[in-house]
Amino acid sequence: MRPAEGQDTAAASASRPGTGGIVSRPRLFEQLATPARVTVVTAPPGSGKTVLLRSWISHSGLADRAAWVAAGWGDRDPQQFWLSVLAALRGTAAGSALVQPVSAAPGLEGWALVERLLKDLAPLDEPAWLVIDDVHELGADQVLRQLELLVMRAPAPLRFVLAARHEVRLGLHRLRLAGELTEIRQPDLRFSVAEARALFHAAGVELADPALAILHDRTEGWVAGLRLAALSLAGHPDPARFAAEFSGSERTVAEYLLAEVLDRQPGPVRLLLLRTSILERVNGELADLLTGSSGGERVLQDLEQANAFVVSLDTARSWFRYHQMFAGLLRLELRRTAPEQATALHRAASAWFEATSTRRRRYGTPRLPGTGDRPPGCSPITGPACTWTGRRPSSTSCSPGSRPVSARTMRSSRQSPRRMSWRTGHWRLPSGTWTRPSAECGR
Ligand SMILES: Nc1ncnc2c1ncn2[C@@H]1O[C@H](COP(=O)(O)OP(=O)(O)OP(=O)(O)O)[C@@H](O)[C@H]1O
Ligand SMILES: [Mg+2]
Repeated sequence: MRPAEGQDTAAASASRPGTGGIVSRPRLFEQLATPARVTVVTAPPGSGKTVLLRSWISHSGLADRAAWVAAGWGDRDPQQFWLSVLAALRGTAAGSALVQPVSAAPGLEGWALVERLLKDLAPLDEPAWLVIDDVHELGADQVLRQLELLVMRAPAPLRFVLAARHEVRLGLHRLRLAGELTEIRQPDLRFSVAEARALFHAAGVELADPALAILHDRTEGWVAGLRLAALSLAGHPDPARFAAEFSGSERTVAEYLLAEVLDRQPGPVRLLLLRTSILERVNGELADLLTGSSGGERVLQDLEQANAFVVSLDTARSWFRYHQMFAGLLRLELRRTAPEQATALHRAASAWFEATSTRRRRYGTPRLPGTGDRPPGCSPITGPACTWTGRRPSSTSCSPGSRPVSARTMRSSRQSPRRMSWRTGHWRLPSGTWTRPSAECGR
């Protein structure tokens, strides 16, 4: 979940605030400039897809060659969507001469409009781009099939840039094989530390390196989170304290995540997310246990596929974790809407982990992801019932903001620490990198 090593150095020299506080992203502009027929940009809400595409068009001087269509709920009607595509293409230098005007009419089919567009565009002999933002809003299968037809049969100079919150079924695998597809995904869009610094600078906020590192770590490079932090930080009397306390429960972040992610989920999915938010990582079995229903694994896989701030931890896609900011929001919501459930949920989850580790000891079943470096007796559950406080035994519960003090003072609930691969206040991930504990539980 972190930007690739070394990326910062390159970005440091390149990323700088552009107009209106927009951080220029030359590395991504280069990817967008590849001659592939189709570029897809897929990432969760607030990852910077729209801003990237708009700033790329302006940076590359493509304003009169790029037709921009933002799909919305209304565009589930094929005729309305294709009429907007036609109008946008007519707005480009090349399209204005080629694409004939069409008016809305009853019975005018999306298929007919696509055929007409293909005919009009056939003589196109200079590069032009059709950029469709929010493609995931084109819910109707029919519109997607029509778009697929256009992509496959359009003349070579017409290139497509398609941005969406999640994967859409467009049969693009054939283009991938032919090397005609460029893919920009969440890891590519994540802001590096240098880009985060540029964003804060553009907002008039100068942060010391440790505070910047904390915010970058907490947001996992998610630009909407960084931007919201920057807005709250402008004029803040104590930026270091703000950074230390920043989480998904911060009011502006919580409002964003509620509106854009949580409130859009159906009731049973919301329930699963809220109840499993007490866990540091979750699988289908645990989700079913905590919700009292079935099909949890499928729901988690769907959420991951939908880029809903759910990340899989293993190649089998059976263990998941929530983006730190999202987890913070979920825990806040659980405390707000069902505080009485927390104890029972913790108890049930603890019993499950206990039973699983007994099973593992007895039958040698594989280790749970991420447990390799956990001090003995530490349960992977966050919140008040956490079995490891990271503090002296006199503190028996995890309170928000608690932090391990030092390896010597660490105690688990069941035994003293042996030699183990952790260092103060950090966990070592299976990948070998060190990570800071979450704000919620001091881990
Ligand atoms: N390059 C950037 N420089 C500065 N701020 C940025 C940049 N990219 C994104 N942001 C900030 O992050 C916010 C979210 O970005 P954007 O709207 O592009 O996300 P998105 O991925 O298109 O989200 P959605 O899926 O909701 O459409 C912007 O409103 C802006 O404040
Ligand atoms: Mg967008």
